Amino acid sequence: MIIYIVGVGPGNREYLTLNAINTLKSSDIVVGSKRALELFDIEENKKYILSKNIIGDLKKVIEYAKKNNKSIAILSTGDPCFSGLLKTLLKYNMVKKEDIEVIPGISSIQVVASKLKISWEDYHILTLHGKEENQKLLLELIKNNKKVIFLPSKDLKGNVSYLIKNGIDANKKIIICENLTYPNERIIKCKLKEVLDLNISYLVVCVIGHN
Ligand SMILES: C[S@@+](CC[C@H](N)C(=O)[O-])C[C@H]1O[C@@H](n2cnc3c(N)ncnc32)[C@H](O)[C@@H]1O
Repeated sequence: MIIYIVGVGPGNREYLTLNAINTLKSSDIVVGSKRALELFDIEENKKYILSKNIIGDLKKVIEYAKKNNKSIAILSTGDPCFSGLLKTLLKYNMVKKEDIEVIPGISSIQVVASKLKISWEDYHILTLHGKEENQKLLLELIKNNKKVIFLPSKDLKGNVSYLIKNGIDANKKIIICENLTYPNERIIKCKLKEVLDLNISYLVVCVIGHN
C-alpha cells in the first residue's frame, strides 16, 4: 500500500500543485492539521484532523488504513522533504521508504527567496524547528559572515538572544518573514536586538546576511 505524503505549500491555495489536488481526490483518507486540510475542498468523511499528539495520531490512522486497505494521503506544510513529515514517518518507522510517494510542495524557503529576490543557492539553509542543536551551527555560520535562511524554533526571541549572548553584534540586520502568502503577511527588516520587542507569530522564516 502506497502512502502519499503531500506538500501543501506555504498556506495559500494559489500555491497548491495540481498533483496535490489530484492525489487528494483519489485518496480514501486525508490526514493533516486543520490549517492544511482547510486548503482543500474535500468531503468531511475523508478528513482526519491531527491533534497535538501527531505521532500517536499518525500511527493510529496508518494502522487503520493498512488494515482496511484504504488509500491515504498525509498533508505536510511547505515541502515534506524540508523539516517536514517525511522525516517523522521514517524516524518512527511508521512506513517503509518503498511504500512512500512524496508529492513535493512549495517550501516557505522558496517563498522567502522569491519575495526577497535572492538566489537561494547562495545561502545556507537550516531549521531550528525541533532541532535546537542547530542553534550552534547557526551561530558559527553567522560568525563566519555566511548568508543564512533559517526556520527558527518556536522561540524566535530565545534564538536571537542566544546569538547576541554568544557574541553576534546586536545591531546585525535580520529579515523576518511572517505568515507568508497569507493576507497578514509581513516582511520586517530590523536589527537583531529589535526582534526582542516584536510581537511575532510562530509562522516565521528568517534571513541573515542579505544586503
Ligand atoms: C514544521 S516546519 C515545516 C516547513 C515546511 N516543510 C516548508 O518546507 O516550509 C514549520 C515552520 O515552517 C515555517 N513556515 C511554514 N509556512 C510558513 C509561512 N506561510 N510563513 C512563514 N513561515 C512558514 C515556519 O518557520 C514554521 O514554524
